[in-house]
Amino acid sequence: MSTAPKAPAARVDQFFTVAEVRFDRWRSLLQAARVWEAAATRQPSERENQQAATSASFQELRQWEDFFAYPGEALLRTLGERIASGDATGTTHLAQSISTALLTHSYRTSLADWEGEEQPAISFGDRVPGTGEETQYRPYFEVLVVSPAGSAKWADLAQELRRLRRSQDKFIYEPVFAGNFEDAVLGAILNGNLEAVVIYEGISFASSHYSPVLREFLTAHLAASNINKDTGQFALALAQGLKLLRPELDIYFLSDREPEKLAGDVRGACIRRVFYQVEEPLELHLSILDGIADRYNTPYFDNLQKYAQRPIGTFHALPVARGKSIFKSNWIRDMGQFYGLNLFLAESSATTGGLDSLLEPTGNIKVAQEKAARAFGADHVFFVTNGTSTSNKMVEQALLAPGDIMLVDRNCHKSHHYGAVIAGALPLYVEAYPLTQYSMYGAVPLRTIKKVLLDLKAEEKLDRAWLFVLTNCTFDGHVYNVERVMEECLAIKPDLIFLWDEAWFGFARWSPFYRGRTAMGAAAILERKFKDPAYHHAYKEQEKKLRANPTDKALLETRLLANPERVRLRVYQTNSTHKSMSCLRQGSMVLVKDPDYHTVEEQFHEAVFTHASTSPNLQIIASLDVARRQMELEGYELVNRAIQLALDIRREVNSHPLVSKYFRILGADEMIPTEFRNSGFVDYLTPGMNWAKAVDAFREDEFALDVTRLTLVCGSAGFDGTQFKNMLAADYDIQLNKTSRNSVLLQTNINNTRSDIAQLIKVLVQISQGIEKKLADGGSPAQVAFAARVKSLMTDVPNLPNFTCFFDRFRENSSSITSEGDMRSAFFAAYREKQCEHLKLLSPEIDKRLKDGPELVSANFVIPYPPGFPIMVPGQVIDKETIEFMRKLDVKEIHGYDPALGLKLLNPAFLKSAKPSADDVTHTAKMAKRKSAAAD
Ligand SMILES: Cc1ncc(COP(=O)(O)O)c(C=O)c1O
Repeated sequence: MSTAPKAPAARVDQFFTVAEVRFDRWRSLLQAARVWEAAATRQPSERENQQAATSASFQELRQWEDFFAYPGEALLRTLGERIASGDATGTTHLAQSISTALLTHSYRTSLADWEGEEQPAISFGDRVPGTGEETQYRPYFEVLVVSPAGSAKWADLAQELRRLRRSQDKFIYEPVFAGNFEDAVLGAILNGNLEAVVIYEGISFASSHYSPVLREFLTAHLAASNINKDTGQFALALAQGLKLLRPELDIYFLSDREPEKLAGDVRGACIRRVFYQVEEPLELHLSILDGIADRYNTPYFDNLQKYAQRPIGTFHALPVARGKSIFKSNWIRDMGQFYGLNLFLAESSATTGGLDSLLEPTGNIKVAQEKAARAFGADHVFFVTNGTSTSNKMVEQALLAPGDIMLVDRNCHKSHHYGAVIAGALPLYVEAYPLTQYSMYGAVPLRTIKKVLLDLKAEEKLDRAWLFVLTNCTFDGHVYNVERVMEECLAIKPDLIFLWDEAWFGFARWSPFYRGRTAMGAAAILERKFKDPAYHHAYKEQEKKLRANPTDKALLETRLLANPERVRLRVYQTNSTHKSMSCLRQGSMVLVKDPDYHTVEEQFHEAVFTHASTSPNLQIIASLDVARRQMELEGYELVNRAIQLALDIRREVNSHPLVSKYFRILGADEMIPTEFRNSGFVDYLTPGMNWAKAVDAFREDEFALDVTRLTLVCGSAGFDGTQFKNMLAADYDIQLNKTSRNSVLLQTNINNTRSDIAQLIKVLVQISQGIEKKLADGGSPAQVAFAARVKSLMTDVPNLPNFTCFFDRFRENSSSITSEGDMRSAFFAAYREKQCEHLKLLSPEIDKRLKDGPELVSANFVIPYPPGFPIMVPGQVIDKETIEFMRKLDVKEIHGYDPALGLKLLNPAFLKSAKPSADDVTHTAKMAKRKSAAAD
């Protein structure tokens, strides 16, 4: 084990993601070695300087390498010896072969990489490292062995584990060693190849590595989680800590005292298996492989592959199944060639014969969903093949009945508004804070949320407020403090149900940085909190302090604790698996963590039956299964990389001397007002920022910014968002996400590489050069025109219109302080043409009506893209600001608005007509019933 490095800049814990930095360090060493080698004919002093530089570069990377199996102690020793002995050529060769193996990951399959550069080249994928035996491809992973045995014994221990390998093993692993708690945590953070951890009892705490930030962080966390450093019992604490950090890891425990006691201890629930020391090394080996197989197995995908290989005659209604109508066709054979035979072999409308039914799963879909539930930390998971648009409507239909109140961010995805219409629930819109300059909304402040709940309470309507729907993260990357929102809401209404629309945020589960801010991650934290006696005590204290009837002001200003004896923690999450994981388009999941799920289970199935196609796409189901496998096995590394790449883009754009003249990526400080960043966090790029501070901010602040969602301001380069997006697609083959008036949204995900980033930066440089040239060639007139365009885009921005109110007819009580409304009646009222009217947007009639009435009431949803939220919903009173916003909009795509016809409104005659009374409704329902009885 190496000791503390000389230069503090080379700290192991510089920032929270390391894979790319590691490659860079190897590249730097290689570069230094090449310069040294090239200096062979120069003065001895210069050669010595280059040797010293190579040695320094080696020392810098050396400390990281303890946490990885490859290149391992032997190769590192050889490298160190070559540097020390002045062998520049040998150093270059070895550094070259190691860095190539790391970059291409070839060491995972090639024996040659493990034996140094002198070995003959062996083709990748045909040998097992350590055995030399020929085999077919076996996925490679690493196992962290945390042992109190001195590092001198590690090589023997590693050999012992390697000897257990058998040709029938489906996977292959190499051990990595750590001798103490801190190093084990560092290993789990740094090494994305780790899939399992073996912990021996008797380990010590402190690391020999120089990692002050980590130490501070661990100390804070250990203090917070009541792990007593003085007892010396770090092994169990480590198991628990690692499980929090990376829940997907399998943890094995080697105890030298009463293993059966530990196996029965609730604190040991995080441990997959307890062994009595190394009594049964083969059992340990098999258990490790079994743990991986459990994650690797994709029951539905595996069965679908088997099904596809069987000679099946199909007499059902799906001609493409087996592909004969395609491959034998005179005219559509190219479709078969393009997609390949397997797609058609794996097409079926059958739900038997090894397949299962998505609507009523009892076989492998059921198991696949159970595995997904485990992976995502939910009680239940439903696979959905029609996107999160459908998942949202399913959850809302299942949980809401007509007349229930649904609290929802007005700026949410349109599926929620339609969900309210379908369920007949009354939406009560809560407003997010506006980011007017960028024509977008942020997220809904907790104070607004609490206020609306308190208003409902004051009006004795709290019992009707069933469901709270929020988008996390928002399209533009605002992440809620999910734990705090739920905790404080539950303090006011202990059984409020939450639906977190995490369409964009499914991947977040696999980053310890993000997990606590996901629906399932926060629910797990709250579950632990509500069981903690200290929390019960704190709640009682707060109750005493607030007294029997606290004022709303006191409740708004207090960080409320929920009554742990009364709360029902009912959390639902929807995620577009296809948006952030390796899943085919439209693959989505509904996650359920609800102790009262059994009370809504029937409704849930009804909702599935209502919305799910009876012909779900098998490939989408299979890809949901596979996406889960991938994330459970390599999600940690992939998500880390996506974060790292996003940080790189942020840094490169904002610090590039030319690009930053015209473009800028908005930092957290520009996306989130100071009042919501209590920790004092400014931005990820702020000098002095390290991951521990970022973690604290993520824990503490009301809102955080998802690093991977990058708002690139292009208005300052004279482009509106749509124009810039189209230009990037047409001229540079770069596709991106949404746009606003003066910005575009870029996103990194698990698919991106550093080359993608290089391409993006290159394009931005080219565009910036183009602007420079145009301004220089065009002289003053061009510069004036450019400045005017920039001003128009960046300064003359329309105010974002708030939700006004529902027209009285659609409100139960027009003097109510809460604004929920019967949107469904308004929606269906528009189905009768005679109840509607159209007014041209620019017509004077609109201004006259705004001034003198009668009020303008929207007949439908009007959703401009961008910004993509409904500026009008059915039944909403339209005010001057909304009209002004509409008139200033210069976007082409406005759903629900036809410029040739004008705005569709509910007409004054209809609005004045008597509202159907409860009796009328009952009468209509009775008539309908009688009619259907007659038809029967
Ligand atoms: C917040 C949010 N929820 C739901 C959806 C719908 O997801 P899907 O495209 O999977 O139907 C979207 C789509 O953009 C979205 O942004």
